[in-house]
Amino acid sequence: MNVAILGVGTVGSSVANILKRNQDIISARAGMKINPVVGVVKDLNKKRDCDIPLTDDINSVIARDDIDVYIELMGGVEEPYRVVSQILKKKKAVVTANKAMLAYHRYDLQNLASDTPFGYEASVAGGIPIIKSLREGLSANHIKKIIGILNGTSNYILTNMMKNSSKFEDVLKKAQELGYAEADPTFDIGGFDAAHKLLILGSIAYGVRGKPEDILIKGIKNVSSEDIFFALDFDYVIKLLAIAKKTDGKVELRVHPALIPKDNIIAKVNGVMNGISVYGDAVGESMYYGPGAGGEATASSVIADLIDIARGNKNPMLGYQPTSKLEELELLPINEIKTKYYLRLRVEDRVGVLAKITNLMSENHLSIDSFLQKPRQSSDEYTTLFFTTHISLESDVKRVMGLLQNEPYVKERPFMIRIEG
Ligand code: NAP
Ligand code: HSE
Repeated sequence: MNVAILGVGTVGSSVANILKRNQDIISARAGMKINPVVGVVKDLNKKRDCDIPLTDDINSVIARDDIDVYIELMGGVEEPYRVVSQILKKKKAVVTANKAMLAYHRYDLQNLASDTPFGYEASVAGGIPIIKSLREGLSANHIKKIIGILNGTSNYILTNMMKNSSKFEDVLKKAQELGYAEADPTFDIGGFDAAHKLLILGSIAYGVRGKPEDILIKGIKNVSSEDIFFALDFDYVIKLLAIAKKTDGKVELRVHPALIPKDNIIAKVNGVMNGISVYGDAVGESMYYGPGAGGEATASSVIADLIDIARGNKNPMLGYQPTSKLEELELLPINEIKTKYYLRLRVEDRVGVLAKITNLMSENHLSIDSFLQKPRQSSDEYTTLFFTTHISLESDVKRVMGLLQNEPYVKERPFMIRIEG
């Protein structure tokens, strides 16, 4: 089986190298030899650590008749969508790791692909076979909930901030050097990459058609050392969570930093590792753990898709047969989310301020679960207050944050983290 690798960067070069290094076992499992016959790049002068023939002329590669499978590893959204559409129209199989493209175009691609094999295992959680697990292994279940750490870079940063008191920028740089981060790392730290992956899982679990702009997406950029101090003191850890669950006949999809109790199994997923807990009505909870980013781990999933194609396996791309009539579940509006919340406020340290804040919270239906005030430095006229709430409505919390921001005794924009578990 001849394959072309469109994009020979971190993941593409690992695919080429593993296909060569593990050729025996891959051929034995696939039932045929898988040959990477050409790679496409932008800059032919760049030094690379793999030795397949390269070109910068993508159109000449798409026009070839001797390629059986195209592996899209370029990144981006519209350009790869155009390229992949062109390939599918020629009825040639495609494998991709591109979750950003799938977050916007997965249903169009499913229609275009029809019976043509389309693999995307590597698009969610790097080396963990979560697509296969959800689409095939758990296919008998109604999925009640998915809670996951789906971005290796953010988890690597948060873990190092919590365990080694590292600085955000230093750890991000290290994650980029290790090949974990996206070409534009704001996708990682802004929560967008995890959201792209969540939308893919949401389609397999619930058939939802949302796009990134339809769901709640918050990143880790504003998580401070004070939040980490509070978390550690109250036996929590902070993780960037991706959550999909059925609530009142609708589907809730959200990505945001969350405080979770430190003995929760997801709390123990550290570094570049990803972890996904899936709750099915028949199976109960099952947990998937492994490396979420990096060339070799991601290439492992890409090649698993190639082997599936060589074996002639046929699975409906998003897990449902095209003829099935599913009730389409709506997305739960963001303001209707209910969970517990942590609030951090920087305020003037004087008589009556705390009373005003707690009054404002109670007038807006927020019930306080715990409270902490750090003793202030003698030279400082401000202090930091930390609150956690009982289960509250997102719209109430947002209203309180907006009202507090306009109070004269509040020095900085109030900051909130949702609490899970
Ligand atoms: P990367 O290192 O930036 O590699 C991208 C490759 O694509 C480069 O070789 C680049 O050429 C080539 N390229 C980009 N635009 C092109 C165009 N228009 N025409 C021809 N070649 C083009 O990216 P990566 O980390 O390997 O990621 C690739 C894909 O896998 C992305 O969709 C990413 O989201 C996904 N992914 C990555 C990881 C990971 O851990 N890195 C994990 C899961 C999924 P030059 O080398 O000449 O610049
Ligand atoms: N940038 C992504 C991450 C790569 O850090 O998880 C894997 O999809």
